Amino acid sequence: RGTLPRQAYIAAIDQGTTSTRCIVFDQNGNIISVAQREHRQIYPKPGWVEHDAEEIWQAVRFVLAEAISMAQLETGRIVALGITNQRETTVLWDRRTGRPVAPAIVWQDTRTDSLLPGLAGEAELFTERTGLPPATYFSGPKIRWLLDQDSELRARAERGEILFGTMDSWLVWNLTGRHVTDVTNASRTMLMNLRTLQWDDELLAALDVPSAMLPEIRSSAEVYGRTSDGIPVAAALGDQQAALFGHVCFAPGEAKGTYGSGSFLLMNTGHDPVRSKHGLLTTVGYKIGQAPAVYALEGAIAVTGSLVQWLRDNLGLISTAAEVETLAMTVPDNGGCYFVPAFSGLFAPHWRSDARGVIAGLTAFVTKGHLARAVLEATAFQTREVVEAMNADSGLALTTLQADGGMTVDNLLMQTLADTLAVPVVRPMVAETTSLGAAYAAGLATGYWPDTDSLRANWHKAAEWHPAMDEGTRAREYRNWQRAVQRTLYWTE
Ligand code: G3P
Repeated sequence: RGTLPRQAYIAAIDQGTTSTRCIVFDQNGNIISVAQREHRQIYPKPGWVEHDAEEIWQAVRFVLAEAISMAQLETGRIVALGITNQRETTVLWDRRTGRPVAPAIVWQDTRTDSLLPGLAGEAELFTERTGLPPATYFSGPKIRWLLDQDSELRARAERGEILFGTMDSWLVWNLTGRHVTDVTNASRTMLMNLRTLQWDDELLAALDVPSAMLPEIRSSAEVYGRTSDGIPVAAALGDQQAALFGHVCFAPGEAKGTYGSGSFLLMNTGHDPVRSKHGLLTTVGYKIGQAPAVYALEGAIAVTGSLVQWLRDNLGLISTAAEVETLAMTVPDNGGCYFVPAFSGLFAPHWRSDARGVIAGLTAFVTKGHLARAVLEATAFQTREVVEAMNADSGLALTTLQADGGMTVDNLLMQTLADTLAVPVVRPMVAETTSLGAAYAAGLATGYWPDTDSLRANWHKAAEWHPAMDEGTRAREYRNWQRAVQRTLYWTE
């Protein structure tokens, strides 16, 4: 591996649900530059959410060039590029032209709801082999839905002319020309066997997905190929797994929560995939090169930050996401109002695709301030549901929540989380944990960092919130929330 060029850096691309970022890091994990670009959210019908994969690829090109230029570096100083991405979102493209053949179906999209009853007989098979209960969330049903629309597309997919990929795969294809994916992203498709880490023929048959269209599954940290500028593309991880890695949760029992458009709590469970009995997912945490895979238990919450955006964009109650905190501070409590944002059904621990959102407890007393508070509390209550499931599954009690993501700038939310969970909440110095995790994996693959121990030294606490709510209030509020959840069953035809 030899010596590194003086002042070498790692770049990470975080291709998220609402925007794409590129961050350049130095060897201490410090941020040198950040470039960001948003992309369109396309909502053609209720429950449908699409992205334009071509627009996203252009955003990636833009932010990569921009971050390198902002850092005032020659390209040669970037010794590796790591990719992290919104998971499950499904892209189909033409192998020959390289162009998408359909809009990308986003993880939040519920159009595959109608396919689920047909998979009920195989639910146990899917959960046993993939760690996932059949749900609209995952890629497999999305591929099936796309191929079911068009018999010619299916025939071409069977001949290997149409390729499937999650965002990592789509980006690595565009950056290097290789059709690969990593184990963490593949573990979100309902098609990969968690133990063999390979596509499973029985699952492919159950979902009617042709193997010829699937990428090769690789580890999360190895050189997949090089960009046209010669930069090795050396890591790919789903964004939540990357955040786990960026939080240096390398030991079993260590856990993190990332607060973005959705929120995702992951706990490292070591080399064994632990089967959840309480509505969590079993997923691959990471696999660094030839080393054995590390697994995780995950509590996935579909809607948290995107509820704040909904308050801004659909209701116009605030003009920036940050204003939700100011608005919520105008009142001392929720005024009896509870907001269950089941926009994509309910994910963990309920897994109810039929659920739709409700605001419960409305009276003439309720103001927009109470609504803003109920919006923030929804994130905390949903977190408590998955923490309780995680404690029950692991037999350990979470003692601190390590939090990151865009929503963690909201101090009221952080305090509400500590109050609702009755444990301290900690935010690290580098809040860009997702990108940092992808950079770490790329740096390990290329010898930029020698080992995971060298990464632990980069983690520093920036802020901490302590529970300050009395136990009676905490218990009552949570019971009220649970009653509101019971009202989410959708009743129209
Ligand atoms: O599983 C979906 C998740 O990966 C999306 O993350 O941060 O883009 O909302 P985010």
